[in-house]
Amino acid sequence: MAYGTYQDEIYKDGLRGVVPRFPMTYDELEPLAQASMPASVRSYVAGGAGDERTQRANVTAFERWGLIPRMMVGATARDLSVDVFGIHLPSPLFMAPVGVIGLCAQDGHGDLATARAAARTGVPMIASTLTNDPLEQVAAELADTPGFFQLYTPTERELAESLIHRAEKAGFKGIVVTLDTWITGWRPRDLTTSNFPQLRGNCLANYTSDPVFRSRLTKSPEDDPKAAVAEWVRIFGNPLTWDDLPWLRSITDLPLILKGICHPEDVRRAKDGGVDGVYCSNHGGRQANGGLPALDALPAMVEAADGMPVLFDSGVRTGADIVKAVALGATAVGVGRPYAYGLAYGGEAGIVHVLRALLAEADLIMAVDGYPTLADLTPDALRRLT
Ligand SMILES: Cc1cc2nc3c(=O)[nH]c(=O)nc-3n(C[C@H](O)[C@H](O)[C@H](O)COP(=O)(O)O)c2cc1C
Repeated sequence: MAYGTYQDEIYKDGLRGVVPRFPMTYDELEPLAQASMPASVRSYVAGGAGDERTQRANVTAFERWGLIPRMMVGATARDLSVDVFGIHLPSPLFMAPVGVIGLCAQDGHGDLATARAAARTGVPMIASTLTNDPLEQVAAELADTPGFFQLYTPTERELAESLIHRAEKAGFKGIVVTLDTWITGWRPRDLTTSNFPQLRGNCLANYTSDPVFRSRLTKSPEDDPKAAVAEWVRIFGNPLTWDDLPWLRSITDLPLILKGICHPEDVRRAKDGGVDGVYCSNHGGRQANGGLPALDALPAMVEAADGMPVLFDSGVRTGADIVKAVALGATAVGVGRPYAYGLAYGGEAGIVHVLRALLAEADLIMAVDGYPTLADLTPDALRRLT
């Protein structure tokens, strides 16, 4: 896919006097998107844990690496495609699960808009457990683009199994189990306004549409929404241990990926437990402050994974960041806030723009710097600034 041609479209439009509707950089998009969000959604999306140092460090970590250009390579055609979990993806970029993405759309159906943007761009979506529209409806919008289902494992195993089996039936291509959010991290921005969207009944559609969840209620969620929220609070967070991994592995034959891992020893345990991939992430700095940037955890994880796919997110804001993460060994690279802001500011078209711009920049960097395929992007393509 010639992603760089997005710039040709933009320059051509310019000849007709048409300039882009959407900002070309994350730094310009962020304030515009935040201004278009209700205060409660803005605080939930923008906020991180503690004084947000880890969240900022995720972003600045990329500045400590520089790509080394190679000349006379003739990288006229670039191939950004990657094979992972038996799936051929046109690029390494994917959309990380964002639990309130439903609320980021002006109409409250951001999960569907994200799935449609995935369908239009070929960029996979990892759909969160916490959606405003049930996972079956999200999957139906994905067309030929693969989707993955992210599970927040509930304390009731029967409910976890029901959610996973629904995801399988709906056509999701893998299950991403998030490990770092069985309890909510300390988030001052949300605490300041006592703001937690799910407690207000938002983004619980996968629960309220689930037969197992519904069977635990005396009245239907439609008749007694408060009781449904109380039940959700009771079952939401399961503090999993490695002893739970055989059970998780036994539920599904789909690729199983563990998200939130940052330590090589945890990678080895996950691999021994039969997972198909690990996902290096510190949840965009939303869960625990005081940590290393996720990017700094990546190389050791890749080494420990020893050929098993390693997904990565946290702090990716530019096409250059994607290229750097791949060079450090990421098999695929996710964004969270960038597409959430694209949606808030420009709806489905805003997400499509954000994804196309990220891919165009990555593609053009690979052209200019002489790295025509992802396989050419190794740690040798980078130098760490001292
Ligand atoms: C508003 C918001 C909600 C999120 N919800 C989820 C979620 O439901 N499940 C999950 O695994 N991660 C969730 N994440 C974390 C993202 O999947 C991802 O790890 C993070 O956003 C990456 O960092 P970035 O925002 O710097 O790109 C959420 C992130 C944000 C910003």
